[in-house]
Amino acid sequence: MSGSMQGKIVIVTGAAGSIGHATALTLAAAGADLMLVDINGEGLAARRGAVEAAGGRVETFTGDCSRSADVAGYVADTLKAFGRIDGLFNNAGTEGKLGPTHEYEEEEFDRIIRINLKSMFLGLRHVLPVLVGQGRGAVVNTGSIASERGLAGACAYNASKHGVIGLTRTAASEVGVHGVRVNAVMPGVIDTPLLEAMLKMMFNGDVAAGKRTLGRIATQDRIGQPAEVGEIATFLLSDKASYVNGAAWAVDGGALSTIRH
Ligand SMILES: NC(=O)c1ccc[n+]([C@@H]2O[C@H](COP(=O)([O-])OP(=O)(O)OC[C@H]3O[C@@H](n4cnc5c(N)ncnc54)[C@H](O)[C@@H]3O)[C@@H](O)[C@H]2O)c1
Repeated sequence: MSGSMQGKIVIVTGAAGSIGHATALTLAAAGADLMLVDINGEGLAARRGAVEAAGGRVETFTGDCSRSADVAGYVADTLKAFGRIDGLFNNAGTEGKLGPTHEYEEEEFDRIIRINLKSMFLGLRHVLPVLVGQGRGAVVNTGSIASERGLAGACAYNASKHGVIGLTRTAASEVGVHGVRVNAVMPGVIDTPLLEAMLKMMFNGDVAAGKRTLGRIATQDRIGQPAEVGEIATFLLSDKASYVNGAAWAVDGGALSTIRH
């Protein structure tokens, strides 16, 4: 079998979740061997078989991506199992509570910044030295359409996702000269449990109405599927994207391109 990721070793964080799992499937089908990372060990175990069936060797690491020791752990385990690292899909994240900025709980703000932004920094901090040392490799960080627009009620999530793009552009400008690329995907409204958790809060429990309403922000009048993000993340991790660095790639059905709703 040959594919755009043939023989490459890729770490996927948040791999027990929807976008992480869909991307792991796409990467495996394209020929990659994978280290799947998540804080949810049971979820990883439940999803592992499907990724193996898609092709390639799979290892798992259960840990908290916002803890330096755990990030160092998944990097060490990957090197031990596979001998090198070619890519990181730096994707673990959470939605956080909703509330206006002027009433937002400080502890919740810190929690979301730690999970959504510090974990991205730690992934870069621990994986980039390996990639730079090899003189090749690629990282894709998961931002959001909330990386580029305000989102009422989600100050912590929004700030964290704006920060992801700042990290992406800064790291890209530092490591490009070493043969390493760092890009971001910015998913729009994607059909996942994370979205459903947000919609429950925003639409008084009526998730279906929320999906219909939020689907309208896209030019295509629908929400997206996790695999549609996975395809772009896989492309950006592959050598096909060899001249793409520091990009923030929207996967949002055109939502950011329009003032439609
Ligand atoms: N679903 C959407 O509409 C949407 C839109 C834009 C961006 N995103 C982003 O996509 C990424 C993936 O989200 P998803 O939609 O697949 O959600 P999801 O809840 O299905 O997956 C997130 C995964 O991250 C894991 N995780 C959370 N905190 C962790 C930590 N500290 N350490 C390790 N793992 C941790 C969770 O256990 C879960 O498996 C997130 O960064 C999210 O912000 C999602």
